[in-house]
Amino acid sequence: MPTPDPKHSQTFVALGVTFADQVHSLFAGLRTRFDSEAAAVTDESSWKGLRDAWLGRKSGVLTLVTDNWLKPSSPELKRVVGASLNELRAHVDAQIEARRTSIEAGAEASARVKDRVDLSLPGVHRPIGSHHLIRQVFQDIEDIFSSIGFSVVEGPEIETPYYNFEALNIPEYHPVRDDMDTFYLDLPNGAPGPLLLRTHTSPVQIHTMEKCQPPVRVIVPGKVYRRDNPDATHSFMFHQIEGLAVDSDITFCDFTGTIDYFVRQFFGEGVKARFRPSYFPFTEPSVEFDASCIFCGGTGTAKAGGACGKCKGAGWIELFGAGMVDPAVYGFVNYDPKKVSGFAFGIGIDRLAMLKYGIDDIQVFFQNDVRFLRQFP
Ligand code: FA5
Repeated sequence: MPTPDPKHSQTFVALGVTFADQVHSLFAGLRTRFDSEAAAVTDESSWKGLRDAWLGRKSGVLTLVTDNWLKPSSPELKRVVGASLNELRAHVDAQIEARRTSIEAGAEASARVKDRVDLSLPGVHRPIGSHHLIRQVFQDIEDIFSSIGFSVVEGPEIETPYYNFEALNIPEYHPVRDDMDTFYLDLPNGAPGPLLLRTHTSPVQIHTMEKCQPPVRVIVPGKVYRRDNPDATHSFMFHQIEGLAVDSDITFCDFTGTIDYFVRQFFGEGVKARFRPSYFPFTEPSVEFDASCIFCGGTGTAKAGGACGKCKGAGWIELFGAGMVDPAVYGFVNYDPKKVSGFAFGIGIDRLAMLKYGIDDIQVFFQNDVRFLRQFP
């Protein structure tokens, strides 16, 4: 069945309207219809539909009422239609504006609810990294030596053979060089060379003494390199801390006392240090320091019985090499060997950390397995 034309699309003649009462009743019907359509508006798109249906310039209801009812009506009815149309337009305008405000307020309120920050919710956990165990051990050692007057200095990892060997009293073809075979840099033709990755932190002894006059008290943390095949106790890159103290009256007792203090601070009061004769071309006399085994308390016997697996029953664990600075070294830095004396030591940090924390493979330091790293927060 075809939909009948709405009344506002027809003229008064077609509708048979001749009296003011009929006009009032037509406008009352339109207003009722508008109110029910406005009440059904819930969001921006239905609001736009309502606005266009009633206020649209070309075919909005009020335009059609103007064209079909107002314009063609007789002069007697025109006054009544005009007044009623104005009243209806004012009502439609006001209602459409009111609906817009209320829809916007509703949208804002629901956006506020959606975006509300609930401060009672648990926060987002962002994991924070920590220092690598080797860095922590460096820090511990630096703290201990800083507390007794040593400064921390650093030196280059790329060295000349002069600083790495010769100035440390290790001439070319000296057999000690065999233990410190290293990596040489490929240099362009004509470049002054050769250059190598330092095999120990001892070259920084020379750099320091070249720059400073005694008294000198420094420690030197850093990376060193050797052509050693990787195994449980060897790595081609590892870490050392060098120590150097030179003054006018430093004795062997100062030396052993300093090392003893360090060992007790680092491993605990119960741990003792001892030294054994050794050999380094740049120290005379040279010694190797041992600490009483921290795992068996220096008894050599494991808690469960039998020989302690860490010190192999000896009760002592080898720690590092050291000695009184060889007077020949002072000749390379223009110190007068008759006026100064001093001691030096070079600690392998990776092996020291292995000893302290009972780690049996040096390679774990370089694998970056977080299950290992997390054990040392
Ligand atoms: C030296 O490097 C001397 N410069 C130490 C020194 C300094 C002596 C000052 C006297 C005075 P040595 O070659 O022994 O010494 O190495 C020192 C320490 O480095 C060793 O005790 C060991 O702990 C560590 N080390 C040596 N080679 C490796 C390696 N391949 N991997 C891990 N640690 C190593």
